[in-house]
Amino acid sequence: MRREIREQNRQVGELLTEFIKETVGFYDHIEREPVCRPAAKDRLAAIQEQTIPDKGRPVEEVFREMQRDIYSSTILGQHPRSFSCVPSTMSLVSWMGDVMTGAYNPHASCTVNAPAADLVEKKLIRWMCGQAGYPEESGGLFVSGGSIANLTALTAARDAKLTWGERGKAVVYVSGQTHSSVAKGLHIIGFGREQIRVLPVDREFCMDLSALRSSVRKDMTDGNIPFAVVASAGTTNTGSVDPLAEISAICRKYDMWMHVDGAFGASALLSSEQRKKLDGIELSDSLSWDAHKWMMQTYGCSAVLVRNQSDLVRSFAAHPEYLKDAETSEEGVEFWDLGPELTRPARGLKLWLTLQTEGTEKMGRMIDHGCRMAELAGKLIQEEPEWEIISGPSLGVVNFRYIADGTLSEEELDSANQHISAEITESGFAQIFTTELGGKKVLRMCTINPETTEEDIRRTIEKLTKAEAVSCLGTARNQSRTA
Ligand SMILES: Cc1ncc(COP(=O)(O)O)c(C=O)c1O
Repeated sequence: MRREIREQNRQVGELLTEFIKETVGFYDHIEREPVCRPAAKDRLAAIQEQTIPDKGRPVEEVFREMQRDIYSSTILGQHPRSFSCVPSTMSLVSWMGDVMTGAYNPHASCTVNAPAADLVEKKLIRWMCGQAGYPEESGGLFVSGGSIANLTALTAARDAKLTWGERGKAVVYVSGQTHSSVAKGLHIIGFGREQIRVLPVDREFCMDLSALRSSVRKDMTDGNIPFAVVASAGTTNTGSVDPLAEISAICRKYDMWMHVDGAFGASALLSSEQRKKLDGIELSDSLSWDAHKWMMQTYGCSAVLVRNQSDLVRSFAAHPEYLKDAETSEEGVEFWDLGPELTRPARGLKLWLTLQTEGTEKMGRMIDHGCRMAELAGKLIQEEPEWEIISGPSLGVVNFRYIADGTLSEEELDSANQHISAEITESGFAQIFTTELGGKKVLRMCTINPETTEEDIRRTIEKLTKAEAVSCLGTARNQSRTA
Protein backbone atom coordinates (compact mmCIF):
# COMPACT_ATOMS: atom_id res chain seq x y z
CA MET A 1 0.00 0.00 0.00
CA ARG A 2 2.77 2.41 0.89
CA ARG A 3 4.41 2.11 -2.52
CA GLU A 4 1.06 2.82 -4.19
CA ILE A 5 0.52 5.89 -2.00
CA ARG A 6 4.01 7.22 -2.69
CA GLU A 7 3.53 6.85 -6.43
CA GLN A 8 0.24 8.73 -6.20
CA ASN A 9 1.94 11.43 -4.10
CA ARG A 10 4.48 11.94 -6.85
CA GLN A 11 1.69 12.55 -9.38
CA VAL A 12 -0.05 14.90 -6.95
CA GLY A 13 3.17 16.88 -6.68
CA GLU A 14 3.37 17.33 -10.46
CA LEU A 15 -0.28 18.31 -10.77
CA LEU A 16 -0.06 20.74 -7.88
CA THR A 17 3.01 22.44 -9.34
CA GLU A 18 1.09 23.01 -12.55
CA PHE A 19 -2.06 24.09 -10.68
CA ILE A 20 -0.24 26.64 -8.56
CA LYS A 21 1.41 28.21 -11.60
CA GLU A 22 -1.88 28.41 -13.49
CA THR A 23 -3.73 29.83 -10.49
CA VAL A 24 -1.21 32.58 -9.91
CA GLY A 25 -1.45 33.40 -13.64
CA PHE A 26 -5.24 33.58 -13.38
CA TYR A 27 -5.11 36.04 -10.49
CA ASP A 28 -2.72 38.16 -12.51
CA HIS A 29 -5.56 39.13 -14.88
CA ILE A 30 -8.67 38.41 -12.81
CA GLU A 31 -10.15 41.81 -13.74
CA ARG A 32 -10.43 40.63 -17.36
CA GLU A 33 -12.50 37.60 -16.31
CA PRO A 34 -16.29 37.76 -15.93
CA VAL A 35 -17.38 38.04 -12.28
CA CYS A 36 -19.94 35.28 -12.67
CA ARG A 37 -18.97 32.10 -14.41
CA PRO A 38 -22.15 30.01 -14.34
CA ALA A 39 -21.86 26.25 -14.64
CA ALA A 40 -22.79 24.87 -18.05
CA LYS A 41 -25.95 22.76 -17.90
CA ASP A 42 -24.29 19.72 -19.50
CA ARG A 43 -21.49 19.84 -16.89
CA LEU A 44 -24.00 19.91 -14.05
CA ALA A 45 -25.87 17.04 -15.68
CA ALA A 46 -22.62 15.06 -15.90
CA ILE A 47 -21.91 15.61 -12.17
CA GLN A 48 -25.49 14.62 -11.39
CA GLU A 49 -24.88 11.28 -13.16
CA GLN A 50 -21.67 10.54 -11.27
CA THR A 51 -21.58 8.02 -8.44
CA ILE A 52 -18.93 7.13 -5.89
CA PRO A 53 -16.98 4.36 -7.64
CA ASP A 54 -15.95 0.98 -6.20
CA LYS A 55 -12.61 1.33 -7.88
CA GLY A 56 -10.89 4.69 -8.02
CA ARG A 57 -9.66 6.51 -11.10
CA PRO A 58 -6.25 8.02 -11.83
CA VAL A 59 -5.74 11.19 -9.82
CA GLU A 60 -4.84 13.20 -12.92
CA GLU A 61 -8.14 12.32 -14.60
CA VAL A 62 -10.20 13.37 -11.56
CA PHE A 63 -8.09 16.49 -11.03
CA ARG A 64 -8.63 17.73 -14.61
CA GLU A 65 -12.32 16.88 -14.54
CA MET A 66 -12.86 18.81 -11.31
CA GLN A 67 -10.82 21.77 -12.46
CA ARG A 68 -12.93 21.98 -15.65
CA ASP A 69 -16.39 21.18 -14.23
CA ILE A 70 -16.37 22.43 -10.66
CA TYR A 71 -13.70 24.97 -9.77
CA SER A 72 -13.96 26.95 -12.99
CA SER A 73 -17.72 27.57 -12.72
CA THR A 74 -18.24 29.78 -9.73
CA ILE A 75 -19.02 33.34 -8.88
CA LEU A 76 -15.76 35.10 -8.17
CA GLY A 77 -16.43 36.89 -4.90
CA GLN A 78 -12.80 38.03 -4.96
CA HIS A 79 -13.16 39.71 -8.37
CA PRO A 80 -12.45 43.46 -8.12
CA ARG A 81 -15.93 44.21 -9.47
CA SER A 82 -17.80 41.81 -7.22
CA PHE A 83 -19.87 44.21 -5.13
CA SER A 84 -22.62 41.95 -3.79
CA CYS A 85 -22.96 40.36 -0.31
CA VAL A 86 -19.66 40.87 1.52
CA PRO A 87 -17.14 40.30 -1.27
CA SER A 88 -14.02 38.33 -0.51
CA THR A 89 -10.83 40.30 0.05
CA MET A 90 -8.70 37.14 -0.03
CA SER A 91 -5.04 37.42 -0.93
CA LEU A 92 -2.86 34.72 -2.40
CA VAL A 93 -0.80 34.90 0.80
CA SER A 94 -3.83 33.64 2.71
CA TRP A 95 -4.31 30.92 0.10
CA MET A 96 -0.68 29.93 0.57
CA GLY A 97 -1.49 29.62 4.27
CA ASP A 98 -4.38 27.30 3.36
CA VAL A 99 -2.08 25.16 1.26
CA MET A 100 0.51 24.94 4.04
CA THR A 101 -1.99 24.34 6.84
CA GLY A 102 -3.78 21.71 4.78
CA ALA A 103 -0.49 20.02 3.95
CA TYR A 104 0.60 19.61 7.57
CA ASN A 105 -2.99 19.23 8.84
CA PRO A 106 -2.38 20.19 12.49
CA HIS A 107 -5.01 18.99 14.97
CA ALA A 108 -5.41 22.43 16.51
CA SER A 109 -7.64 21.44 19.38
CA CYS A 110 -5.08 21.56 22.19
CA THR A 111 -1.52 22.57 23.03
CA VAL A 112 0.01 19.11 22.98
CA ASN A 113 -1.17 18.27 19.47
CA ALA A 114 0.20 21.39 17.80
CA PRO A 115 2.16 23.50 20.29
CA ALA A 116 3.46 26.15 17.88
CA ALA A 117 0.19 26.49 15.96
CA ASP A 118 -1.62 26.71 19.31
CA LEU A 119 0.73 29.48 20.43
CA VAL A 120 0.26 31.40 17.18
CA GLU A 121 -3.53 31.22 17.43
CA LYS A 122 -3.40 32.29 21.09
CA LYS A 123 -1.15 35.23 20.23
CA LEU A 124 -3.50 36.27 17.43
CA ILE A 125 -6.53 36.05 19.71
CA ARG A 126 -4.68 38.16 22.29
CA TRP A 127 -3.78 40.70 19.60
CA MET A 128 -7.38 40.87 18.35
CA CYS A 129 -8.66 41.27 21.92
CA GLY A 130 -6.13 44.10 22.30
CA GLN A 131 -7.40 45.77 19.12
CA ALA A 132 -10.93 45.55 20.51
CA GLY A 133 -9.76 47.13 23.78
CA TYR A 134 -10.58 44.06 25.86
CA PRO A 135 -8.84 43.46 29.23
CA GLU A 136 -6.17 40.88 30.11
CA GLU A 137 -8.65 38.17 31.12
CA SER A 138 -10.30 38.22 27.68
CA GLY A 139 -9.91 35.38 25.20
CA GLY A 140 -11.49 33.64 22.28
CA LEU A 141 -11.28 31.15 19.52
CA PHE A 142 -10.97 30.93 15.75
CA VAL A 143 -14.15 29.52 14.26
CA SER A 144 -15.40 28.95 10.73
CA GLY A 145 -17.39 32.16 10.25
CA GLY A 146 -19.51 34.94 11.69
CA SER A 147 -22.57 32.74 12.10
CA ILE A 148 -20.72 30.30 14.35
CA ALA A 149 -18.99 33.18 16.17
CA ASN A 150 -22.42 34.69 16.95
CA LEU A 151 -23.77 31.30 18.04
CA THR A 152 -20.77 30.68 20.30
CA ALA A 153 -20.94 34.12 21.93
CA LEU A 154 -24.70 33.90 22.49
CA THR A 155 -24.28 30.51 24.16
CA ALA A 156 -21.82 32.13 26.58
CA ALA A 157 -24.28 35.00 27.12
CA ARG A 158 -27.11 32.58 27.91
CA ASP A 159 -25.05 30.63 30.43
CA ALA A 160 -23.61 33.75 32.08
CA LYS A 161 -26.92 35.50 32.58
CA LEU A 162 -29.61 32.84 32.97
CA THR A 163 -30.32 29.84 35.13
CA TRP A 164 -31.84 26.81 33.45
CA GLY A 165 -35.26 27.72 34.81
CA GLU A 166 -35.10 31.32 33.56
CA ARG A 167 -34.53 30.46 29.90
CA GLY A 168 -38.22 30.31 29.00
CA LYS A 169 -38.80 33.89 30.17
CA ALA A 170 -35.61 35.31 28.69
CA VAL A 171 -35.64 37.92 25.93
CA VAL A 172 -32.94 39.29 23.67
CA TYR A 173 -32.87 42.55 21.70
CA VAL A 174 -31.71 42.94 18.11
CA SER A 175 -32.49 45.53 15.45
CA GLY A 176 -34.28 45.16 12.14
CA GLN A 177 -30.81 45.26 10.55
CA THR A 178 -29.19 42.54 12.67
CA HIS A 179 -27.77 39.68 10.60
CA SER A 180 -30.05 36.67 10.20
CA SER A 181 -27.40 34.36 11.74
CA VAL A 182 -28.22 35.83 15.16
CA ALA A 183 -31.83 34.60 15.11
CA LYS A 184 -30.62 31.28 13.73
CA GLY A 185 -28.05 30.95 16.52
CA LEU A 186 -30.62 31.85 19.16
CA HIS A 187 -32.95 29.22 17.76
CA ILE A 188 -30.20 26.58 17.92
CA ILE A 189 -29.48 27.40 21.57
CA GLY A 190 -33.10 27.13 22.55
CA PHE A 191 -34.77 30.52 22.13
CA GLY A 192 -37.95 30.92 20.10
CA ARG A 193 -38.76 33.79 17.75
CA GLU A 194 -41.13 35.20 20.37
CA GLN A 195 -38.13 35.72 22.66
CA ILE A 196 -36.39 37.99 20.16
CA ARG A 197 -37.36 41.67 20.18
CA VAL A 198 -36.64 43.18 16.78
CA LEU A 199 -36.21 46.91 17.40
CA PRO A 200 -36.66 49.67 14.82
CA VAL A 201 -33.69 51.54 13.36
CA ASP A 202 -33.10 55.27 12.89
CA ARG A 203 -32.42 57.11 9.62
CA GLU A 204 -28.86 55.80 9.59
CA PHE A 205 -30.15 52.23 10.00
CA CYS A 206 -28.77 52.04 13.56
CA MET A 207 -30.60 50.55 16.53
CA ASP A 208 -33.15 52.99 18.00
CA LEU A 209 -32.06 53.51 21.60
CA SER A 210 -35.36 54.82 22.94
CA ALA A 211 -37.07 51.74 21.53
CA LEU A 212 -34.46 49.58 23.27
CA ARG A 213 -35.00 51.31 26.62
CA SER A 214 -38.79 51.16 26.48
CA SER A 215 -38.81 47.58 25.26
CA VAL A 216 -36.55 46.47 28.13
CA ARG A 217 -38.75 48.28 30.68
CA LYS A 218 -41.91 46.77 29.26
CA ASP A 219 -40.44 43.28 29.30
CA MET A 220 -39.45 43.69 32.94
CA THR A 221 -42.92 44.89 33.83
CA ASP A 222 -44.39 41.89 32.00
CA GLY A 223 -42.21 39.51 34.01
CA ASN A 224 -39.81 38.67 31.20
CA ILE A 225 -36.05 38.53 31.72
CA PRO A 226 -34.01 40.78 29.39
CA PHE A 227 -30.63 39.07 29.13
CA ALA A 228 -28.78 40.23 26.02
CA VAL A 229 -28.53 42.90 23.34
CA VAL A 230 -26.90 42.17 19.99
CA ALA A 231 -25.41 45.33 18.54
CA SER A 232 -23.91 45.49 15.06
CA ALA A 233 -20.56 47.00 14.13
CA GLY A 234 -21.09 47.12 10.39
CA THR A 235 -24.49 45.80 9.34
CA THR A 236 -24.59 43.67 6.23
CA ASN A 237 -27.13 45.84 4.43
CA THR A 238 -25.73 49.30 5.10
CA GLY A 239 -22.40 49.05 6.99
CA SER A 240 -24.05 50.91 9.89
CA VAL A 241 -22.60 50.83 13.38
CA ASP A 242 -25.06 50.82 16.27
CA PRO A 243 -24.38 53.32 19.10
CA LEU A 244 -22.12 50.95 21.00
CA ALA A 245 -21.27 53.03 24.09
CA GLU A 246 -24.93 53.91 24.71
CA ILE A 247 -26.02 50.30 24.26
CA SER A 248 -23.34 49.22 26.71
CA ALA A 249 -24.67 51.69 29.32
CA ILE A 250 -28.17 50.24 28.92
CA CYS A 251 -26.80 46.69 29.20
CA ARG A 252 -24.96 47.54 32.42
CA LYS A 253 -27.99 49.24 33.91
CA TYR A 254 -30.18 46.18 33.33
CA ASP A 255 -27.49 43.53 33.78
CA MET A 256 -27.66 42.34 30.17
CA TRP A 257 -24.89 40.79 28.06
CA MET A 258 -23.77 42.96 25.16
CA HIS A 259 -22.67 41.07 22.06
CA VAL A 260 -21.30 42.98 19.10
CA ASP A 261 -21.64 41.38 15.70
CA GLY A 262 -18.55 42.83 14.06
CA ALA A 263 -18.27 39.98 11.58
CA PHE A 264 -18.06 42.52 8.80
CA GLY A 265 -17.04 45.81 10.46
CA ALA A 266 -14.64 44.91 13.30
CA SER A 267 -11.72 44.95 10.85
CA ALA A 268 -12.17 48.73 10.70
CA LEU A 269 -10.36 48.70 14.07
CA LEU A 270 -7.20 48.47 11.95
CA SER A 271 -7.92 51.71 10.11
CA SER A 272 -6.90 54.98 11.72
CA GLU A 273 -9.58 56.74 9.61
CA GLN A 274 -12.46 54.40 10.48
CA ARG A 275 -11.58 53.14 13.96
CA LYS A 276 -13.40 55.98 15.73
CA LYS A 277 -16.73 54.70 14.38
CA LEU A 278 -16.29 51.63 16.58
CA ASP A 279 -15.83 53.53 19.84
CA GLY A 280 -17.58 51.65 22.62
CA ILE A 281 -16.75 48.21 21.19
CA GLU A 282 -14.32 47.81 24.13
CA LEU A 283 -17.28 47.89 26.51
CA SER A 284 -18.97 44.85 25.01
CA ASP A 285 -18.96 41.35 26.53
CA SER A 286 -18.30 39.55 23.26
CA LEU A 287 -17.44 40.26 19.67
CA SER A 288 -17.62 38.37 16.36
CA TRP A 289 -14.87 39.35 13.91
CA ASP A 290 -14.50 37.69 10.52
CA ALA A 291 -11.01 37.74 9.08
CA HIS A 292 -12.45 36.19 5.92
CA LYS A 293 -14.46 39.32 5.29
CA TRP A 294 -12.10 42.30 5.49
CA MET A 295 -8.70 40.91 6.46
CA MET A 296 -7.70 39.31 3.18
CA GLN A 297 -8.48 35.73 4.28
CA THR A 298 -9.92 32.87 2.30
CA TYR A 299 -13.12 31.50 3.81
CA GLY A 300 -13.23 29.73 7.16
CA CYS A 301 -11.41 32.30 9.28
CA SER A 302 -13.35 34.16 11.95
CA ALA A 303 -12.84 34.87 15.62
CA VAL A 304 -15.22 34.93 18.56
CA LEU A 305 -13.78 37.08 21.34
CA VAL A 306 -15.06 37.45 24.88
CA ARG A 307 -14.30 40.01 27.54
CA ASN A 308 -13.71 37.21 30.01
CA GLN A 309 -12.48 33.89 28.66
CA SER A 310 -13.99 32.04 31.61
CA ASP A 311 -17.41 32.73 30.07
CA LEU A 312 -16.54 30.45 27.14
CA VAL A 313 -15.05 27.85 29.49
CA ARG A 314 -18.29 27.79 31.50
CA SER A 315 -20.28 26.94 28.40
CA PHE A 316 -17.96 24.62 26.53
CA ALA A 317 -15.40 22.87 28.75
CA ALA A 318 -15.64 19.09 28.90
CA HIS A 319 -13.08 16.70 30.34
CA PRO A 320 -13.65 13.21 28.96
CA GLU A 321 -11.27 10.45 30.08
CA TYR A 322 -9.82 9.93 26.59
CA LEU A 323 -8.51 13.51 26.49
CA LYS A 324 -6.93 13.59 29.95
CA ASP A 325 -3.39 12.93 28.63
CA ALA A 326 -3.72 15.76 26.14
CA GLU A 327 -4.73 18.38 28.72
CA THR A 328 -1.40 20.09 29.06
CA SER A 329 -1.86 23.81 28.53
CA GLU A 330 -0.43 25.88 31.37
CA GLU A 331 -3.67 27.75 32.02
CA GLY A 332 -5.61 24.47 32.04
CA VAL A 333 -7.72 25.62 29.11
CA GLU A 334 -7.49 24.07 25.65
CA PHE A 335 -9.18 25.35 22.47
CA TRP A 336 -11.73 22.52 22.76
CA ASP A 337 -12.85 24.14 26.04
CA LEU A 338 -13.78 27.38 24.29
CA GLY A 339 -16.23 26.33 21.59
CA PRO A 340 -18.33 23.53 20.19
CA GLU A 341 -15.59 21.83 18.14
CA LEU A 342 -13.06 19.22 19.20
CA THR A 343 -11.00 18.49 16.08
CA ARG A 344 -10.43 21.79 14.36
CA PRO A 345 -8.07 23.10 11.69
CA ALA A 346 -5.56 25.78 12.69
CA ARG A 347 -7.63 28.54 11.12
CA GLY A 348 -5.45 31.32 12.44
CA LEU A 349 -2.21 30.27 10.73
CA LYS A 350 -3.05 31.81 7.37
CA LEU A 351 -4.00 35.04 9.15
CA TRP A 352 -0.66 35.00 10.95
CA LEU A 353 1.11 34.48 7.62
CA THR A 354 -0.87 37.40 6.14
CA LEU A 355 -0.31 39.79 9.05
CA GLN A 356 3.39 38.98 9.23
CA THR A 357 3.68 39.54 5.47
CA GLU A 358 1.52 42.65 5.11
CA GLY A 359 1.75 44.34 8.49
CA THR A 360 -1.13 46.21 10.12
CA GLU A 361 -0.43 49.50 8.38
CA LYS A 362 -1.14 48.04 4.95
CA MET A 363 -4.25 46.33 6.34
CA GLY A 364 -5.46 49.74 7.51
CA ARG A 365 -4.77 51.28 4.10
CA MET A 366 -6.64 48.46 2.41
CA ILE A 367 -9.68 49.16 4.58
CA ASP A 368 -9.49 52.91 3.91
CA HIS A 369 -9.28 52.19 0.19
CA GLY A 370 -12.50 50.14 0.34
CA CYS A 371 -14.28 52.97 2.14
CA ARG A 372 -13.04 55.50 -0.43
CA MET A 373 -14.33 53.38 -3.30
CA ALA A 374 -17.83 53.41 -1.75
CA GLU A 375 -17.55 57.18 -1.30
CA LEU A 376 -16.65 57.55 -4.95
CA ALA A 377 -19.60 55.39 -6.00
CA GLY A 378 -21.86 57.53 -3.78
CA LYS A 379 -20.51 60.76 -5.26
CA LEU A 380 -21.04 59.55 -8.81
CA ILE A 381 -24.60 58.50 -8.02
CA GLN A 382 -25.31 61.88 -6.43
CA GLU A 383 -24.35 63.54 -9.69
CA GLU A 384 -27.14 61.64 -11.45
CA PRO A 385 -30.50 63.46 -11.24
CA GLU A 386 -32.62 60.31 -11.63
CA TRP A 387 -30.89 58.37 -8.88
CA GLU A 388 -30.85 58.72 -5.11
CA ILE A 389 -28.65 57.53 -2.28
CA ILE A 390 -30.58 55.47 0.27
CA SER A 391 -27.80 54.81 2.80
CA GLY A 392 -24.15 55.56 3.40
CA PRO A 393 -21.56 55.36 2.23
CA SER A 394 -20.61 53.67 5.49
CA LEU A 395 -17.76 51.20 5.98
CA GLY A 396 -17.45 50.50 2.28
CA VAL A 397 -21.19 50.01 1.69
CA VAL A 398 -23.48 52.30 -0.26
CA ASN A 399 -27.13 51.77 -1.24
CA PHE A 400 -28.85 53.69 -3.96
CA ARG A 401 -31.81 53.54 -6.26
CA TYR A 402 -32.95 54.55 -9.69
CA ILE A 403 -35.94 56.85 -9.15
CA ALA A 404 -36.53 58.08 -12.72
CA ASP A 405 -38.23 61.48 -12.88
CA GLY A 406 -40.52 60.89 -9.90
CA THR A 407 -43.53 59.84 -11.97
CA LEU A 408 -43.24 56.08 -11.51
CA SER A 409 -44.94 54.00 -8.83
CA GLU A 410 -42.92 52.25 -6.12
CA GLU A 411 -43.67 48.88 -7.77
CA GLU A 412 -42.36 50.12 -11.12
CA LEU A 413 -39.21 51.45 -9.46
CA ASP A 414 -38.66 48.18 -7.55
CA SER A 415 -38.96 46.27 -10.78
CA ALA A 416 -36.63 48.67 -12.64
CA ASN A 417 -33.94 48.36 -9.96
CA GLN A 418 -34.27 44.59 -9.96
CA HIS A 419 -33.77 44.60 -13.73
CA ILE A 420 -30.74 46.90 -13.49
CA SER A 421 -29.14 44.52 -10.96
CA ALA A 422 -29.85 41.48 -13.14
CA GLU A 423 -28.55 43.22 -16.26
CA ILE A 424 -25.15 44.15 -14.87
CA THR A 425 -24.73 40.83 -13.07
CA GLU A 426 -25.65 38.78 -16.16
CA SER A 427 -23.26 40.86 -18.26
CA GLY A 428 -20.39 39.49 -16.15
CA PHE A 429 -18.84 42.95 -15.86
CA ALA A 430 -19.79 43.45 -12.22
CA GLN A 431 -21.99 41.80 -9.66
CA ILE A 432 -24.49 43.99 -7.83
CA PHE A 433 -27.43 42.56 -5.91
CA THR A 434 -30.48 44.33 -4.59
CA THR A 435 -31.56 44.51 -1.00
CA GLU A 436 -34.57 46.08 0.70
CA LEU A 437 -34.40 49.18 2.84
CA GLY A 438 -37.46 50.96 4.20
CA GLY A 439 -39.63 48.69 2.08
CA LYS A 440 -37.89 49.73 -1.16
CA LYS A 441 -35.76 47.62 -3.45
CA VAL A 442 -32.35 49.23 -3.70
CA LEU A 443 -29.01 48.50 -5.33
CA ARG A 444 -26.26 47.72 -2.85
CA MET A 445 -22.55 48.01 -3.46
CA CYS A 446 -19.91 46.75 -1.04
CA THR A 447 -16.59 47.94 -2.42
CA ILE A 448 -14.03 46.46 -0.03
CA ASN A 449 -11.81 44.57 -2.46
CA PRO A 450 -8.35 46.19 -2.28
CA GLU A 451 -7.84 45.59 -6.01
CA THR A 452 -10.91 47.63 -7.01
CA THR A 453 -9.81 50.74 -8.88
CA GLU A 454 -11.49 54.12 -9.42
CA GLU A 455 -11.88 53.08 -13.04
CA ASP A 456 -13.78 49.94 -11.94
CA ILE A 457 -16.17 52.11 -9.93
CA ARG A 458 -16.64 54.73 -12.67
CA ARG A 459 -17.32 52.14 -15.37
CA THR A 460 -19.71 50.23 -13.11
CA ILE A 461 -21.78 53.32 -12.29
CA GLU A 462 -21.76 54.31 -15.94
CA LYS A 463 -23.08 50.88 -16.91
CA LEU A 464 -25.80 51.09 -14.26
CA THR A 465 -27.00 54.52 -15.34
CA LYS A 466 -27.01 53.42 -18.99
CA ALA A 467 -28.68 50.08 -18.30
CA GLU A 468 -31.38 48.97 -20.72
CA ALA A 469 -33.98 49.08 -17.94
CA VAL A 470 -33.16 52.79 -17.48
CA SER A 471 -33.19 53.62 -21.20
CA CYS A 472 -36.44 51.68 -21.79
CA LEU A 473 -38.21 53.53 -19.01
CA GLY A 474 -36.88 56.86 -20.30
CA THR A 475 -38.14 56.09 -23.84
CA ALA A 476 -41.52 54.92 -22.53
CA ARG A 477 -41.90 58.15 -20.53
CA ASN A 478 -41.00 60.30 -23.53
CA GLN A 479 -43.48 58.42 -25.71
CA SER A 480 -46.30 58.79 -23.20
CA ARG A 481 -45.55 62.53 -22.92
CA THR A 482 -45.66 63.06 -26.69
CA ALA A 483 -48.75 60.84 -27.11
C1 LIG B 1 -22.80 41.38 10.02
C2 LIG B 1 -22.67 39.92 9.69
N1 LIG B 1 -22.79 39.02 10.68
C3 LIG B 1 -22.68 37.70 10.45
C4 LIG B 1 -22.47 37.22 9.18
C5 LIG B 1 -22.37 35.74 8.95
O1 LIG B 1 -21.03 35.44 8.70
P1 LIG B 1 -20.61 34.06 7.99
O2 LIG B 1 -21.22 34.15 6.61
O3 LIG B 1 -19.12 34.11 7.99
O4 LIG B 1 -21.16 32.94 8.78
C6 LIG B 1 -22.37 38.12 8.11
C7 LIG B 1 -22.16 37.63 6.74
O5 LIG B 1 -22.16 38.37 5.79
C8 LIG B 1 -22.46 39.51 8.37
O6 LIG B 1 -22.34 40.42 7.40
